[in-house]
Amino acid sequence: MERVTQLGYLGLEVSDLARWEKFATELLGLEHAGTDADGTLYLRMDEHHHRFALRQGPRDDIAVAGWQARNESELRAIAERLDAQGTAVTWGDAREARQRRVAGFIRLSDPNGIAIEVYCGPLVQTDRPFRSPRDIAGFEASALGLGHIVLAVDDYDASMRFYRDGLGLRISDYIDLDMGGAEATRAAFLHCGPRHHSLAMVQVSAPKRLHHFMLQARQLRDVGSTFDRCRDEAVPITMELGCHTNDRMVSFYAQTPSGFHVEYGHGGVEIDDDTWQVETYQAASTWGHRSPAVHAAAAA
Ligand SMILES: [Fe+2]
Repeated sequence: MERVTQLGYLGLEVSDLARWEKFATELLGLEHAGTDADGTLYLRMDEHHHRFALRQGPRDDIAVAGWQARNESELRAIAERLDAQGTAVTWGDAREARQRRVAGFIRLSDPNGIAIEVYCGPLVQTDRPFRSPRDIAGFEASALGLGHIVLAVDDYDASMRFYRDGLGLRISDYIDLDMGGAEATRAAFLHCGPRHHSLAMVQVSAPKRLHHFMLQARQLRDVGSTFDRCRDEAVPITMELGCHTNDRMVSFYAQTPSGFHVEYGHGGVEIDDDTWQVETYQAASTWGHRSPAVHAAAAA
């Protein structure tokens, strides 16, 4: 079965593009990769031309998720499978592909109405190494993709069919979260390569589709220095440093200028599909990841 191989790019619609530019470069350490005539701001984190495309708009949410296919024949096979499963697929034209810096792509919607693009042949600039505006060692990206996204979905089963049976992602594990209801709420984590998860989904009604995106720093010290910088710049920390039960990543969460969160982490297990066994957890973290508000209330 042909599958997508990485979460390749993320389009965000943001209401304050100028604030985002500062946040993404000076705080997160992403590199400004130019703007298009229509005002789209590109950000890079590795040798790919860009990993983020930010457009000004009122939604302050995910605009599009771009999933990479290995090559054009696999992209065609994925398109045909999605079409056979009843998902409307349209091919992007040459001008649209040029703007995305890809050789070809299809566009579709997931069952929640989130715009999805599956593409092949991204522009990769190994002649122009990633240079962070900050003194950091860079990000684990390249073949692992940009990181992960966590989405609030309307229909868990339909979303699972789309991402697992349509795009070809595989289950990594589950976390059953106590969200105050009679039954636990299941979060599903899915991978498309060695990265533990490129996508997680929870069926929950939330103000935004995108709960957070995750960037994986090469060095732990860069998680610490970014945490300090958030504090110095009065960027709200939404979860303090901690370690997740499933991917074992050490990370913290901060609020972006759009209200959804960014997870800034280091480490984490990688998946070998020949030996991986799916597990279920009942907690999201082994230590930490506490809410600063709860912490402050306990101290008061
Ligand atoms: Fe995460």
